Amino acid sequence: MNTKAEEIKQQLNQFCVETSAHLEEFRLQFLSKKSDLQQLLGEIKNVVPELRKEFGQEVNELKQYAQQLFDAHKNRMEEAVVPYISEIDATRPSTLYSSGAMHPVSIVMNEVCEIFEKIGFSTVSGSDIEDDWHVFSALNFPQEHPARDMQDTFFVNMNPEFLLRTHTSSLQVRTMESCPPPIRVICPGRVYRNETITARSHCIFHQVEGLYIARKVSFADMKQVLLFFAKEMFGQETKIRLRPSYFPFTEPSAEMDIECKICGGKGCNVCKYSGWVEILGCGMVDPNVLDNCGINSKEYCGYAFGLGIERMAMLKYKINDIRLFFENDVRFLEQFAK
Ligand code: PHE
Repeated sequence: MNTKAEEIKQQLNQFCVETSAHLEEFRLQFLSKKSDLQQLLGEIKNVVPELRKEFGQEVNELKQYAQQLFDAHKNRMEEAVVPYISEIDATRPSTLYSSGAMHPVSIVMNEVCEIFEKIGFSTVSGSDIEDDWHVFSALNFPQEHPARDMQDTFFVNMNPEFLLRTHTSSLQVRTMESCPPPIRVICPGRVYRNETITARSHCIFHQVEGLYIARKVSFADMKQVLLFFAKEMFGQETKIRLRPSYFPFTEPSAEMDIECKICGGKGCNVCKYSGWVEILGCGMVDPNVLDNCGINSKEYCGYAFGLGIERMAMLKYKINDIRLFFENDVRFLEQFAK
């Protein structure tokens, strides 16, 4: 093959046609009157007679090849365009994606926080990973207290100085360490305990803890605030009762029950036929805790309380298995969409 024809053939094979503009360029470069190929055809008559036949054949075959390539590119372009027009209807309404909904734990947690914010508490948050001081030592847990035991606490493998907080009381310690009294805060957050997962307990759950530190704070102040909370949360006719209890960081300590919302106090399996369900722990902050956090216990005193959000949500929505909150089954979660 002569060199010019060979060069054109190479150009033909390398020409990439992806749009109709490319197709037009192809036509101009190889098939138009001014194209190199056309000029080559015009030269056939000038070739010496003994070589003319072979030259003419070569150039004509090249022309046919160029035409075939052009037709193939053209067909391909047309085929690509047809389904584009027929299959895509830009005016059709789009597929509706179902929008997410708030998780019941978030709904109840926000509700609890809003009630306390209404009466002057501000919200503080912090890290899930804590150290022994903020979760236990500052809170007056004796060194050998079972709650520090590996049974209850998840420690960080690489450095057992650090652990996953077992309650958000650690945030109360951090607040007392960094802010002078009066202090009025609530601490919502996720907490972790190494417990067997059952219908009633889980190794992950959520809490909102509260702390009030000022001068001359009484147990009666605390009771009044907690009664206000119970009525706001469960209805104005809600009754509460306080039972003596023990926490290392409060003295005296109590647990608060509300009248069972499921049976109205008559007795059922949720309240274990007592008519009451426990919703929170509370008490007057132990002076040792105040001193540990740099607050003069001779001048200041206060109360603290802590409640479990899942427990609260179970009562509110009549849910009988805590595991449902963590399984993320959309059929369960969808029921809380507003
Ligand atoms: N921190 C306690 C718990 O996790 C709850 C609590 C808080 C009790 C404050 C009394 C005072 O169980």
